[in-house]
Amino acid sequence: MPTAVHVLGNDPATWSGPLSEAAAVLAAGGTVAFPTETVYGLGAHALDPDAVARIYAAKGRPATNPIIVHVVDIAQAKQLAGDWPETADSLARALWPGPLTLIVPKADCVPPIVTAGGRTVALRMPSHPVARALLKEAGIPVAAPSANVSESISSTTAAHVLKGLDGKIDMLLDGGTTPGGLESTVVDCSVEPPVIRRHGLLSPADLAAYGVKDAPGVLHAADGPAVSPGMRRRHYAPAVPLVVVSSLAEGLRENDGLLTFRTEQCAAIVETLPDDARGYGAGLYGALHRLEDAGVERIVVVEPPRAPGWEAVHDRLRRASERPD
Ligand code: TXA
Ligand code: MG
Repeated sequence: MPTAVHVLGNDPATWSGPLSEAAAVLAAGGTVAFPTETVYGLGAHALDPDAVARIYAAKGRPATNPIIVHVVDIAQAKQLAGDWPETADSLARALWPGPLTLIVPKADCVPPIVTAGGRTVALRMPSHPVARALLKEAGIPVAAPSANVSESISSTTAAHVLKGLDGKIDMLLDGGTTPGGLESTVVDCSVEPPVIRRHGLLSPADLAAYGVKDAPGVLHAADGPAVSPGMRRRHYAPAVPLVVVSSLAEGLRENDGLLTFRTEQCAAIVETLPDDARGYGAGLYGALHRLEDAGVERIVVVEPPRAPGWEAVHDRLRRASERPD
């Protein structure tokens, strides 16, 4: 079956037809890709195990990798939580809706397939108007990983979604380019103090004021998934090798593509991103997709600044540079 695509313009008043169709697809156990303020998500009914299984199948996602559940408000989040820690409550009140995912103990109603058998669930209230309108219309919690084939580059446009998932998902809501461009920051509130499990749009400095510690990659509690799966070694990776270099002294090969944030004199296909962390992060996946599509044999990335605010960019580049097992 081809994927049904609905383009949503800037006027929310025109969205009602596509939104009610998308809500019906979700209610019936189907899959719908939709924009969020970070990247596109691939959604399914979070309380329907068969629906969630369709996400894993479409992405080729390992069953050991749990999925974030998207909620319309804090009340819905609490229904999915077995315990709602004080730290989760204050973070949610301060920073939701927004690019923050909170790990809390799960309620019994959350099927094991969502949490990869673990006792915690990851919850997020997105701020993107299309995501919010969809969650409101659907009236159910929506499990949604990033809308891309497992391990490959995440999607910041509808075209990126179709590149890997056309025909494998039921519907796509095209809401244009996602503004943030990098995934949400995942904070584990099932431990005290809460710790960052995956760097994302909110930086460690943004979260320090709420007592959140920066310890990504730390082993999960014994009863949860072994490690936070955003911490998988290889992830966010283009189809061709990617290397990060501190200078171009070694020179580029004939069919290299170059990703940089400054002016370079070279013959390669070049993508130049802004030299600020926010702008670079917003453009990163789009630039990687374009280099991949240009058919380069290798992507050479000039190492971005090692400065606060760049943590998520460095995390994604490090994982993208890992070769397959
Ligand atoms: O911005 C985002 O977070 C996007 C949009 C669509 O919301 N979603 C996203 O999902 O990036 P995904 O599946 O690509 O990454 C989900 C990450 C996992 O890598 C893992 O670190 C964490 O969320 N996660 C999900 N459930 C978890 C759980 N129960 N325990 C620990 N980590 C969990
Ligand atoms: Mg992902």
